[in-house]
Amino acid sequence: MNPQKNLDLGTFAQDVLIGLSSKPKSLPSKYFYDAKGDKLFQAIMAMPEYYLTRKEFEILENQFDKILASQLAHGKPFNLVELGAGDGLKTKILLRHLLQVQADFEYYPIDFSGSVLKELKDSLTEEMPGLQVFPIEDTYRGSLLQRSWANERPTLILFLGGNIGNFPLKEAKDVLDHLRLGTKPGDQVLLGFDLKKHPQVILDAYHDPSGITREFNLNLLGRMNRELGANFDLDTFLHWPSYNPVNGECRSHLVSLKKQEVFVSALDQSFKFRAYEPIFTEISKKYSLPEIAKLAKNAGFKSVDKFTDSENYFADVLWERL
Ligand SMILES: C[S@@+](CC[C@H](N)C(=O)[O-])C[C@H]1O[C@@H](n2cnc3c(N)ncnc32)[C@H](O)[C@@H]1O
Repeated sequence: MNPQKNLDLGTFAQDVLIGLSSKPKSLPSKYFYDAKGDKLFQAIMAMPEYYLTRKEFEILENQFDKILASQLAHGKPFNLVELGAGDGLKTKILLRHLLQVQADFEYYPIDFSGSVLKELKDSLTEEMPGLQVFPIEDTYRGSLLQRSWANERPTLILFLGGNIGNFPLKEAKDVLDHLRLGTKPGDQVLLGFDLKKHPQVILDAYHDPSGITREFNLNLLGRMNRELGANFDLDTFLHWPSYNPVNGECRSHLVSLKKQEVFVSALDQSFKFRAYEPIFTEISKKYSLPEIAKLAKNAGFKSVDKFTDSENYFADVLWERL
């Protein structure tokens, strides 16, 4: 086992101990994605309120040739790396085009969730038998430090779906620093950013009337019950997202509806909750186009192009490593 990977992944139990002992309490959002969470996230992507997937799909469907033009123009074999690949629904638009024009490339999907990676690999083997796929089960930062794909070939790294938005600004900058470390001059990065827009549109995407986002958030507690022998009563926690248009942060919480104590047997420890005490579970930060341009500059990348949907809800930006 690679020690760097071990260090970066931490363990679920350790992270729960740190998060539930902190003030205010928090849990890392990466633990949403177990087999149940992967399925729930796929259901979220299909919701009418969750515009993010639909809008990015529109961008990739309508503009894939422009997005990939500079990568195809050099005519050299290249690496296509994807951070947080998930089910690859949108990536398949790019993959199909690359196969159609007989581009010489290898695809390295990276995801922390082994179950989602296996599903992706199986579906690609069936749908695109000629594709060379090398899945990597690791975190964003762990894989960028490891760079198991690295060779003399140019590399295009995909970071789609607003995954970068799942970090507060300071940490997003650290992930971008890792992107710089994990690339060489001339390499390109295609990043998805959810754009600032009407606050109600944003809030609805994280608070659907059918309750799928609620179930997704509560799955963190369910996962602790299943894997760490915790005794959370899910009915006593409220899913509570909020959006702050000042800093563009949409934050989800789980609020304890009563004073209670929860025991986690893997830690042999109880955690006390005051009535209405929140656990912070997820951030989804929204950006303006000037903010994105500034991020690129500060992280050592040149903005090459930007692609938006018809309503300017979402942007995929193409950066080149300086
Ligand atoms: C919000 S989904 C997006 C999936 C896909 N990129 C899309 O746009 O539809 C995030 C994916 O990234 C993975 N993920 C989340 N945090 C991660 C991390 N720190 N390192 C690696 N993968 C992570 C999850 O397992 C999940 O499959």
